Amino acid sequence: MNQPIAIELAATKKTKPQADQLGFGKYYTDHMFIMDYEASKGWHSPRIVPYQPITLDPASKVFHYGQTVFEGLKAYRTDNGSILLFRPEENFKRLNRSNERLSIPHLDEEIALEALKQLITVDQDWIPDEDKTSLYVRPFIIANESSLGVAPSQNYMFMIILSPVGSYYAEGIHPVKIFVESEYVRAVKGGVGNAKTAGNYAAGLKAQEEAAAKGCTQVLWLDGVERKYVEEVGSMNVFFSINGTIVTPALNGSILDGITRKSIIELLKSWNIPVEERKLSIGELVEAYHNGTLEEAFGTGTAAVISPIGELHYLDEQLLLRGGETGPLSRKLYETLTGIQTGVIADPFGWTV
Ligand code: COI
Repeated sequence: MNQPIAIELAATKKTKPQADQLGFGKYYTDHMFIMDYEASKGWHSPRIVPYQPITLDPASKVFHYGQTVFEGLKAYRTDNGSILLFRPEENFKRLNRSNERLSIPHLDEEIALEALKQLITVDQDWIPDEDKTSLYVRPFIIANESSLGVAPSQNYMFMIILSPVGSYYAEGIHPVKIFVESEYVRAVKGGVGNAKTAGNYAAGLKAQEEAAAKGCTQVLWLDGVERKYVEEVGSMNVFFSINGTIVTPALNGSILDGITRKSIIELLKSWNIPVEERKLSIGELVEAYHNGTLEEAFGTGTAAVISPIGELHYLDEQLLLRGGETGPLSRKLYETLTGIQTGVIADPFGWTV
């Protein structure tokens, strides 16, 4: 496919929300991108159209068998008025890795990036520029063949929608309470935990709901086999500072290969801070807490960037970290990464586009 992107502009524009009302994923811009796939034609008909509901047959496979993948990234408005995307090519590479796992056809990453740039250019007035705001970008693919047979769909839609956002958690960069989940699991090796697909998030809702009832914002996921090794926190990757070394669970097939995770590791290494990607048991964490070497803990993801962990609830214990305050490393990582993303800090890595 190498067709030009058709553009149909919206006849009327929506009223934009105030920055303090944004929250996360509540408002959408005036336009969206769509491209279709049919087995006989491949990907075709790329177009930018006014943001609107789509019509799907009730038998579309996505509704029944969850054949769908998505991505999340952010666009920022810099002080000099230009627009920055953070490592967007990594998102489209990962989208294709998720496609591969979900038997969805490969998407041309350059075409997807070009579509994103054109869509953002059309809706650029929607990029908020207040502190801690950005334009969240949600590319996704759904299987829309109407057939109840369990087999890969013959038809798909690739879409990109845009949402001006503030902080992901109402707490902002303030530490959250985390419930260590030892009953439900998020994913297992060989499953789809390392693909960005809807089912992983649906599978986490029950635990999140039960954690909320216990006063916690999210759960710390343990491995699905032994309920022993730490995997992720909520929908984010997780890092711990233990005695001066930063430890994060190694990618093992059930953990998402986060782009923020990867960037944090590269940033820490550039600061000569030792980083270990390895198996990390909950027992080791509890022991480090009791001997005073568990210095900080935080989640990393596109939506929240850095989300410090203020408290871990594990069995009958409540492990209070840094008195529930944000640690210096979490703050420095947050400020450096968001500084690079917003163009306030020069980007020595070539991450921004
Ligand atoms: C992220 O941290 O960016 C996520 O994956 C959460 C998102 C599904 C809202």
